[in-house]
Amino acid sequence: INWFPGHMNRARNQIEEAMPDIDLVVEVLDSRLPYSSTNPLVDELRVGKPCIKVLNKADLSDPKITKLWIEHFEKQDNTHALALVAEDHKQSQKLIQLIKNIVNQSEDKKTNIRVMIMGIPNVGKSTLINSLAGRYIANTGDEPAVTKRQQMIDLKNGVVLSDTPGILWPKFENFHSGYRLATSGAIKNTAMEYEDVAMYALEYLSKAYPEALMTRYKLEVLPESGESLLDMVARKRGCIRSGGKVDLHKAGEIVLHDFRSGKIGLLSLETPEMMVAEEIIAEELI
Ligand code: GTP
Repeated sequence: INWFPGHMNRARNQIEEAMPDIDLVVEVLDSRLPYSSTNPLVDELRVGKPCIKVLNKADLSDPKITKLWIEHFEKQDNTHALALVAEDHKQSQKLIQLIKNIVNQSEDKKTNIRVMIMGIPNVGKSTLINSLAGRYIANTGDEPAVTKRQQMIDLKNGVVLSDTPGILWPKFENFHSGYRLATSGAIKNTAMEYEDVAMYALEYLSKAYPEALMTRYKLEVLPESGESLLDMVARKRGCIRSGGKVDLHKAGEIVLHDFRSGKIGLLSLETPEMMVAEEIIAEELI
């Protein structure tokens, strides 16, 4: 999906229309970038209904940082948080249990709890829906935006998933968020230059996870700038064009592929603390 204002309005209206029938919202986030992979509209559109923030792809993120994010979300009003790996049926069943605990705390035993799964493209909504249902329902894919309008799904365990696709657009207004989303693969590869994204990622990882980076690419030192880092990785990996010129595009592909498949290690791109600082800076700029 290209997010034009018309698409955004339609998505928003559909969610608003469906919300009165919903008992609980599940927002799927990428646990490596919970701030950048959220759309703040979720908290506005859920109009006070309980929400579980699912920190998905927990097999790729730094468990210590993910724990901090859980604590961060649990402090928010009417909000719960759970880290998981969407494909894992056992883990998705924990989500069902949590949904039931939350809804049945506030109301008399509900028989069919209506849940809307929300989130930006590529965070794993379809994977989670399939795993919850224990069968293939939603399309999944590596490229963003394959979730089509879904059928109403009765999980036959007391939980019903809404047929409204709660797909929202990623937020582009923050420079860092754009790069982190691109690093994770949530923004299509064509939308940003591989080299630029890889340089951004390397610069961050060299500060947050220096050992992991040095080990993966057999580096003895870590230069400050992303450009020098990418150049070094290119040389180490033999990304040299005929004529001896360094192929930064190829090196960028390697770095991003390694990051996305967890080959550098279990890594997170942002912490709750960093986000507070970034939001203060953003406010000062306005
Ligand atoms: P749209 O259809 O674009 O809205 O995306 P979506 O949110 O439905 O995401 P989808 O389920 O298609 O997953 C996107 C990619 O992430 C796929 O390649 C999935 O295999 C992968 N993925 C989903 N969950 C996990 C997870 O827990 N761990 C890992 N490593 N990959 C996951």
